[in-house]
Amino acid sequence: MALLKNLLSVDQLTDEVLMRLFASATSFQAMDRERMRDLLRGRVMASMFWQESTRTRLSHEAAMLRMGGSVVGTENARAFSSVAKGEDNFDMGLAIGIYADIIVARHMTKGGVAELARDAVTPVINGGDGPGDHPTQALGDMLHIFQHHGTLDNLTVVMAGDCKRSRTIHPDVRILMRHGCSFIFVSRPTLRIPDDLRAELDALKCKYSEQTALNRDIMRVADVMYMTRDQDNLTGGNGNADYTTGDPVVLTPDLLDIAKPSLLVQHPLPRRTEIDRRCDDHEIIPVRKHLRDQMDACFWGRHALIAELMRLDL
Ligand code: NCD
Repeated sequence: MALLKNLLSVDQLTDEVLMRLFASATSFQAMDRERMRDLLRGRVMASMFWQESTRTRLSHEAAMLRMGGSVVGTENARAFSSVAKGEDNFDMGLAIGIYADIIVARHMTKGGVAELARDAVTPVINGGDGPGDHPTQALGDMLHIFQHHGTLDNLTVVMAGDCKRSRTIHPDVRILMRHGCSFIFVSRPTLRIPDDLRAELDALKCKYSEQTALNRDIMRVADVMYMTRDQDNLTGGNGNADYTTGDPVVLTPDLLDIAKPSLLVQHPLPRRTEIDRRCDDHEIIPVRKHLRDQMDACFWGRHALIAELMRLDL
């Protein structure tokens, strides 16, 4: 049983790792706060965010603090770290690895967190690297699906919104495709899934289709509905026409009315207008509760991840 040394890519979330982290997250969820308080006493997390974040940063930091550890770092590393003076990610990682026992980082470029990890002697968690990966969100999303449906296998999963750039859709698909899930990608024509992901789906002979709007046929078969916002902050100033062509994908209460009652709605958040707010209190599929449970799963999943990287014996 190989324990994780860091978490940089969704490829590290094998089924064995996922099941182990799910079990650990579930025991954290039920753990007495007093007992939790001493687990990481005296240990330090460095939290370095080059890109904006609410949930990812605060949930890692709060998990560390609840386990008795401390947190140093910056929420605006772009302005307040030596990167602003021209330092590269390798030297930055080398330095932070001396001060901290674990690093969580979000970077604006793909591969930026892996560069930080190369010379750091401590475990590094990728909290999102530009348009690249977001493995801790995938961990929480999978835990949420597993807790709701009791399985990750053979589900019909709708991925809606920005199928082109969402760094949460891509890793989630990469896990679920191993589990015999079929996919319906729903997006503006300019925001279809990238060719590399399509090639991976084809290689595994996954069943999938690409659509431009949600409709009754999609709603009737969906087990998971994963909504995302336009990732217009990840375009690097280019590609903005992608967001004005065609119609946005919006989930409305009348669509929920015809869904399976067991449908799970997910959104990594933040959300804009892609979920009509009247869905929040839908009688059968209460979307706000689903989103809260998803954030909860991400939080406990991150406790489990930090515990594994710090070699805690629970
Ligand atoms: C996501 C991200 O940063 O990629 N947010 C998150 O971590 N929960 C999704 C998004 O920003 O749209």
